[in-house]
Amino acid sequence: MRITVRINGEKHQADCWEGESLLFALREKLGFPGSKNACEQGECGSCSVLLDGTLVCACLVLAAQADGHDVTTVEGLAENGDLHPVQQAFVDAGAVQCGFCTPGFVVASKALLDKYPNPTPEQAHHELAGNFCRCGTYAGIRGVVSKGKGA
Ligand code: FES
Ligand code: FES
Repeated sequence: MRITVRINGEKHQADCWEGESLLFALREKLGFPGSKNACEQGECGSCSVLLDGTLVCACLVLAAQADGHDVTTVEGLAENGDLHPVQQAFVDAGAVQCGFCTPGFVVASKALLDKYPNPTPEQAHHELAGNFCRCGTYAGIRGVVSKGKGA
């Protein structure tokens, strides 16, 4: 089947089989490799994207389910060559080690701060609970989101 998805504001099409994940289509067919593939089971959050503004694991969404919808990937956060404030805050805070989890955390942190511009530690913990970092950069990431929307 052919799907049409608006990705980061632009319309894209791809031919997918019915069981194909949105993550696979994004990375392998549509040219958006920023969302990382780690577990493919909804456990790690490295594939986090926004589907119609809602944070989802792209590995758990069928490409077919995204047909006709809006997807925002980590590649879509920067504007006019400038990093999104959340991206810049991750850089400034050094909240990155190997960086594999970082795109997912950046997208999830943006979603968190859109929902709670000044999140409590409990809100931040709850909203980022689906994202794991094997390198243990949690303290840096907590520092980023604790600064709030202007992070
Ligand atoms: S790759 Fe999707 S949650 Fe881990
Ligand atoms: S920075 Fe390495 S997994 Fe998070």
